[in-house]
Amino acid sequence: MKNLIQKLTETFSPSGFESAVRDVIRAEVAPYADEIRVDALGNLIVRKGPDGNVENARKIMIAAHMDEIGIIASHIDDKGFVRFAAIGGVFPRNLPGGRVRFFNGTPGVIGVEPLDKPTETPPLEKCYIDVGASSNKNHPIKIGDVAGFDRSFIDMGDKLVAKAMDDRIGCAVAIEALKALKSTPHNVFFVFTTQEEVGTRGAETSAYGIDPDLGFSIDVTMWGDSPNQRGLDVHLGKGPAIKIKDGGMLSDPRIVNWMISSADKAKLPYQREVLLGGTTDARAMQLVRAGVPVGCISIPCRYVHSPSEMVDYRDVQNAVKLIDVMLSGPVEI
Ligand code: CO
Ligand code: ZN
Repeated sequence: MKNLIQKLTETFSPSGFESAVRDVIRAEVAPYADEIRVDALGNLIVRKGPDGNVENARKIMIAAHMDEIGIIASHIDDKGFVRFAAIGGVFPRNLPGGRVRFFNGTPGVIGVEPLDKPTETPPLEKCYIDVGASSNKNHPIKIGDVAGFDRSFIDMGDKLVAKAMDDRIGCAVAIEALKALKSTPHNVFFVFTTQEEVGTRGAETSAYGIDPDLGFSIDVTMWGDSPNQRGLDVHLGKGPAIKIKDGGMLSDPRIVNWMISSADKAKLPYQREVLLGGTTDARAMQLVRAGVPVGCISIPCRYVHSPSEMVDYRDVQNAVKLIDVMLSGPVEI
């Protein structure tokens, strides 16, 4: 599974430009799916149905977002420096000295104008991308070109580090859960969603189209176990986190019970998550049409929205097992 995680995290696909990672995922899931389609917003919808006609088969939607944060070129000055806008929640303090890669393969380094106080965090307006050009004539980048943050995957053993763990690790869990699922009484829709980082947009339209009976998202959550990190009782390596509340959603208690009783049945470790800020695709799913009971399985992740996001491989593997248990039997909600 580590090879898959490396392949997924090293692919560049900021929000709205998910085609590269969609191709990688489609090739992985094709042998295991009963049906695959791509909807108007680019969501990859992968269905696995029950064997034969099962009465009262539930439609279960599982969302993991394919997109990652990135940048988009907004201005190129006469010396060839590229100004840019953020795609999603880019923290300026993570930018200086970083590298980006545009879709046409052009690499760039992120520079910062001189600041009044050299130790302050630069505002985005004072950052620029240097692609080694000396004028805006014959420049390799056009306004509107998109780049991802460039950082390679590291395998530290139990800990794995990469850009875009948010949420390629969720995609990896969904892919492995599909592969592991031998049979299910349900109609399961694994949805690899688009544009989560700019406001859960792909989840909103795909959930409307699927009209699920229930569902959940798989996404990263924050962490509470590094120096002076406070406010969240979630630790890397203590199991996938079962979300009870985040900044945009209260999980349906019946979905939380389904997750916890499945983990208990299979003797899998888990953590209870109350996240103060931020939300996931599950919020959009919950509020579509007349409403859907949803929850979220979170992978604890340090340094979220930096180019070096860290997860614990055991949490990832236990999330796959938990989802397999949840989908293999009937759901009583
Ligand atoms: Co994110
Ligand atoms: Zn995410």
